[in-house]
Amino acid sequence: MNILTRLRSLRGLTPIRERQLPDVARSIAIIMDGNGRWARRRRLPVAAGHRAGTRALRRTVEAAIDLGVESLCVYAFSTENWSRPSDEVDALIEIFIETIERELPDLAREGVRTRFIGRRDRATPELRAKIERLEGTTAANERLQLWIAFDYGGRAEIVEAARRLVEEGVDPRDIDENAIASRLYAPEMPEPDLLIRTSGELRISNFLLWQLAYTELVFVDTLWPDFGERQLREALAEYASRRRRYGGR
Ligand code: IPE
Ligand code: IPE
Ligand code: MG
Repeated sequence: MNILTRLRSLRGLTPIRERQLPDVARSIAIIMDGNGRWARRRRLPVAAGHRAGTRALRRTVEAAIDLGVESLCVYAFSTENWSRPSDEVDALIEIFIETIERELPDLAREGVRTRFIGRRDRATPELRAKIERLEGTTAANERLQLWIAFDYGGRAEIVEAARRLVEEGVDPRDIDENAIASRLYAPEMPEPDLLIRTSGELRISNFLLWQLAYTELVFVDTLWPDFGERQLREALAEYASRRRRYGGR
């Protein structure tokens, strides 16, 4: 412990995290973007892009298991995506149901626990039932924690946390960061070490606004349906070359 760290801990302050060179990101978040462009380039319907996207998700989860990732949170459908043409939204809901039935049980056999974050009240009853069933049947799995953000918006999540604080009658003097963090959709979800966004777009699009405060951001040009182990390894290598400072020196 150096003298500055010792002084700070003597004064009861949190020690500054010193230079950190993490080799493996234990917790990763991905904005899976580019399905529409992938389909358009092939003159295929947009739904074909979303189907190809589910195959990329499976490859990526399997690669993440092999690379020792513990938690993976993927953005599947935002609160704003309801504004897309209704035939695309219907196709997406159908593809989510198919994915839960066909792809995710195989991943469950490999030890993947799947949970969903986001609003539940606007999903179709069939999708909601599939979500709840999958969460129940994978609850004891420990190899990789998969979080699927569906009907998810970072602002909506913080608004809901604020509403719950008021409903619970919490004293304003007791409202601190932990009071908010513990009322998010999944308080037990680790904050991402690394966020990857595919398809070359350089924005967050309302994903994990609270949790990304000190996350390392990596943007790649690959369209999501073309993403896989190689691109995940490259993003992890980029992460390993970063220096996380958390506001310190
Ligand atoms: C991401 O791919 C999937 C969802 C948002 C559901 P897009 O459908 O946004 O793909 P682009 O951005 O149009 O290429
Ligand atoms: C973000 O992608 C949402 C998901 C990947 C599910 P969008 O394609 O909806 O975001 P914008 O419209 O480019 O910001
Ligand atoms: Mg997009």
